[in-house]
Amino acid sequence: MSFDQEASRRQFLKFLSASPLLSGSSAFAGDGPSAGVKLPDPIIWAPLRTDALIKSPKEAINVFDFEPVARVNIPPAHFGYMASGIDDEVTLRSNREDFLRFQLRPRRLVDVSKVDMSVELLGTTYPTPIIIAPVGGQQSFHPDGEIAVAKAARAGNHLQILSTSTNTGVEEVTAARGAPVWYQLYATNSWDIAKAMVQRAEKAGCPVVAVTVDRSGGRNQETLFRLIPSDTRDCNTCHERGTLATNLKRRAMYQGLDVSGLRNTQSSAMTWDFLKRLRDTTKMKIVIKGILAHEDAVLAADAGIDAIIVSNHGARSEDSGRSTIDALPEIVEAVRGRMPVLIDSGFRRGTDIVKALCMGASAVCIGRPYVWGLGAFGQAGVERVLELMRVELYAAMQQVGAPSIKHLVPGMVRRVT
Ligand SMILES: Cc1cc2nc3c(=O)[nH]c(=O)nc-3n(C[C@H](O)[C@H](O)[C@H](O)COP(=O)(O)O)c2cc1C
Repeated sequence: MSFDQEASRRQFLKFLSASPLLSGSSAFAGDGPSAGVKLPDPIIWAPLRTDALIKSPKEAINVFDFEPVARVNIPPAHFGYMASGIDDEVTLRSNREDFLRFQLRPRRLVDVSKVDMSVELLGTTYPTPIIIAPVGGQQSFHPDGEIAVAKAARAGNHLQILSTSTNTGVEEVTAARGAPVWYQLYATNSWDIAKAMVQRAEKAGCPVVAVTVDRSGGRNQETLFRLIPSDTRDCNTCHERGTLATNLKRRAMYQGLDVSGLRNTQSSAMTWDFLKRLRDTTKMKIVIKGILAHEDAVLAADAGIDAIIVSNHGARSEDSGRSTIDALPEIVEAVRGRMPVLIDSGFRRGTDIVKALCMGASAVCIGRPYVWGLGAFGQAGVERVLELMRVELYAAMQQVGAPSIKHLVPGMVRRVT
């Protein structure tokens, strides 16, 4: 996908320099925040400054340092697509804020000089429970797209889940990753298309298909729609919006498939029957991504599904207001260990991950943080984001006295509201 990264950067820097937010009296430019901001202590001496961007991945001290750099590099419409929740973005905020409703209980005098972060998932051992969530069209954030992410996943040895909407085919991504990836399926309402994609992924060596079940209707991505007008490029140059078929030209997994009967790529007609049919079609393990209610989790276990991902799609599929960390305990309780429960949406810190693992999650997927890294510095940015998350997870496990993942237990976390 071609876009003028430099022009976009210049445009945004011009915007920043003209912004009253960055005048001398602002929260971002001075030594502390504006009057009236409620603080734990009277003055923050080192706030994250959006006018003092990191210049290399090494300079980052947490994953948030990448986001303003990505905002400069990525064209406004693409950035808006990534950042957007939907409607009032209540779920988007809850996904972050609800981590504060759970507190860790630090434990002492346990030997945590070595922490083993490895987890076993569906028959394979991974050195870390941090998984790369499927994100579509990664060349819209950096020309190297999914290949850069695969190479970063390889460097840090993370499991990668590849989106149906990938710009690069599953075969090429698997080769760049140097190990099997999981394939995420947007099944559409056409069985033939779903079947063909699954068979292609299986042939490419994917051991698992993760069926996304939470994109069944339309959505109002307000942040995206408000940012589109500030993008001076002509979207039709790349997206060819005339028909779905031309719009899918840059989506590698649709190549060679007859999409003429499709009006969109969603699965508004999908029911449990689809999962039964899928089970008869593939030897791959089946994971459902997008479960939020304990009733659906039980139905999934009853249907013999291999694992679920508790996810609200990073607050991009609904605006119920409920975070995944809030939904997790009732789901874990209902599932009663019958299958692994993974989780995503809003995870940014090692402590976030530890809370979920203590509450019974088997692994955690992250989305936007690695996209910030990708947009900011390509592969090196993704590598550093993943490294920061690993380092924070390691330290958080030490704080609760857990030398391995199996030592993370419910008693290490308490609900406060
Ligand atoms: C830009 C973007 C594109 C996404 N594309 C897909 C996709 O193609 N398939 C899918 O199942 N989930 C997709 N997701 C959702 C992620 O897999 C994941 O559930 C979510 O990003 C996790 O929340 P987080 O971004 O707060 O970490 C996308 C998310 C973002 C931000």
